[in-house]
Amino acid sequence: MTLWRLLVAFVFFCFAVPAAAQDVAQAPPGSQIVASEDSPSKTIHVDVTVNAEGRVGYMVSRQGTPVIAESRLGFLFTDAPEMLRNFKAVGHTTRSFDQTWEEPWGEYRTIRDRYNELAISFDEQNWLKRRMTVVFRVFDDGVGFRYELFAAPGFTHANIADELTEFNVAEPATAWWDEALEWNREEYLYHRTPVEEIGTAQTPLTIRTQSGLHLSFHEAALVDYSGMDLRRIQGRVLKANLMPSSSGPKVSRDLPMATPWRVIMIAPDAPSLYKSAQIILNLNEPNRLGDVSWVKPMKYVGIWWAMHLDKATWNSGPKHGATTANAKRYIDFAARNGFGGVLIEGWNKGWDGDWFGRGFDFSFTEPYPDFDLAEVARYARSKGIAIIGHHETAGNIANYEKQLGPALDLYQKLGIHAVKTGYVADAGGIQALGPDGKIHFEWHQGQVTVKHHLKVVTEAAKRQIAVNPHEPVKDTGLRRTYPNWISREGERGMEYNAWGNPKNPPEHEANLVFTRMLSGPMDFTPGILSLKGKGDTQILSTLAKQLALYVVIYSPVEMAADLPENYEANPKAFQFIKDVAVDWDDTRMLAGDVGDLAVIVRKQRGASTWFLGAVGDEQERQFDVALDFLEPGRRYRAEIYRDGDDADYRTNPRAMVIEQRIVTAKDHLAMRIAPGGGTAVRFVALGR
Ligand code: NOJ
Ligand code: CA
Repeated sequence: MTLWRLLVAFVFFCFAVPAAAQDVAQAPPGSQIVASEDSPSKTIHVDVTVNAEGRVGYMVSRQGTPVIAESRLGFLFTDAPEMLRNFKAVGHTTRSFDQTWEEPWGEYRTIRDRYNELAISFDEQNWLKRRMTVVFRVFDDGVGFRYELFAAPGFTHANIADELTEFNVAEPATAWWDEALEWNREEYLYHRTPVEEIGTAQTPLTIRTQSGLHLSFHEAALVDYSGMDLRRIQGRVLKANLMPSSSGPKVSRDLPMATPWRVIMIAPDAPSLYKSAQIILNLNEPNRLGDVSWVKPMKYVGIWWAMHLDKATWNSGPKHGATTANAKRYIDFAARNGFGGVLIEGWNKGWDGDWFGRGFDFSFTEPYPDFDLAEVARYARSKGIAIIGHHETAGNIANYEKQLGPALDLYQKLGIHAVKTGYVADAGGIQALGPDGKIHFEWHQGQVTVKHHLKVVTEAAKRQIAVNPHEPVKDTGLRRTYPNWISREGERGMEYNAWGNPKNPPEHEANLVFTRMLSGPMDFTPGILSLKGKGDTQILSTLAKQLALYVVIYSPVEMAADLPENYEANPKAFQFIKDVAVDWDDTRMLAGDVGDLAVIVRKQRGASTWFLGAVGDEQERQFDVALDFLEPGRRYRAEIYRDGDDADYRTNPRAMVIEQRIVTAKDHLAMRIAPGGGTAVRFVALGR
């Protein structure tokens, strides 16, 4: 090589890197970059832009690859001009943060919260002179941002008609999404379509881009605001769409105020995306409840599945499920098999007649005459079993709030430390007491209901009661701030396998893991070992998959949902449910593909035992996982519950092989998941 060519190569080398970085950071035509921020390891880069009209925007890239192309920000109001144009950047501040915090219960014992923050303020240059600050937190695996709005002359209260926040997906991508704003609330099956075919979607909404990046869009710290859906407005541009309210504005707040965080998780592959969900917790405030040792992760059984099978009723009558005698039978079963709690539904007056979406007749303090609550609580205590209370509201939060204090006082008096709540009503069917003293119809995720849920959680916390809402508001990580918010439903759970039409398809859980589960724990209620729904209809799962769900679908309260007699008839499979842990030191996804496969290992909190759960979809899957998560130099007994060689959810769902093997961290486990199947493993630490 001549000296000249060497010199050219050297000059090229010197400028190649900055030039490439500059390409990414180039302002789109007509816009100007007014500030930028990198994540701590410089993986993620955010640019904030303003265009010639004074419209504010942002762009995100990962290692030089555009992720979010220029996307607009702003608001519409019902009683003030929009905040959209005429903005000028008037200053910004930055700071770095790096702290590790401990979860009182969870998937990980510790979580590192590490980001660079950019807070940039914009002033309107017209007669309105309002200020909007946007705070970006740039993590190595995603971005969170939120707005701060301030009072200005004639603008002291924000009546928000909608948010104009956009997410302009830079590359062609495949999306996993389900409908928002439809009658069946949040309980829909997931679609897999190009981003261009999204309609109005719930969050978390997950996509895989052409270049292989995995993104999920969600929100964090939803407090006193309306939940956000995403509506595709053109091409690959998704726009925030706030849940409606009966009062006109979707959100009504005094100023100053901050919105919830808008979150984009950004990961190189599906397993890393699962861990990016820590961003949601990191964007929430630390624990406000102090010592929460009274919040107890546990497995539980309950008077529940029998009602969904129509073998018992919530209401009074000859098939009433919640009788004193039946409750004691479940308490005995729980005590015999090492469970922590028993859920009792249908114990209180109000279930007779028309309760769905109505709920005016529910009393939360008066039991049915054939159910002696005090005696059941006493009996449970004598057996070391916790009662899980139940408050079905049928979406009538007016009736529930009226009784909330006495209802929770009663549980406190009886030593009951957990309650499952329910909001069974169609979308838009939450009945709330308006300022005019009349009933108003609201949405499960609207501002009024968002406030209601937090009220229940904080009132319950005062009485040391944990809350597990069904038909809930979506999880946005508030369990960090209020660790008594222990779980929730919020998607199609096992109940659809009793009476759903269609039932949950084999891919359902492999979809959930990468979508709904990124928001937080789900009270899915697994473990139907009979594999039968109502009327003896077949559930679309193998036996081994029912066990795998205990590891795959995270919840610190996990139900063994089947009837006691079905567990007694399947003692070998039941053993795994008895053994599996519910609280974890660490969680890792060993292999995964959205909607196809999820292999998760978790280390039991405070113990050396590991558990593995793997679920697939309707196709057979064969692969091999390294066991290098195990402690080096230690031997483990792997207790494997796998699909039989001829298992298939359609033809042979019960074929399951249980085998044991001694393994170390150096070994690999070859796995085969049958169509509709799964694998569950317990790794018990032995000597070194
Ligand atoms: C819906 C809940 O998801 C289910 O678990 C419960 O049994 C019914 N509501 C009745 O409250
Ligand atoms: Ca439900």
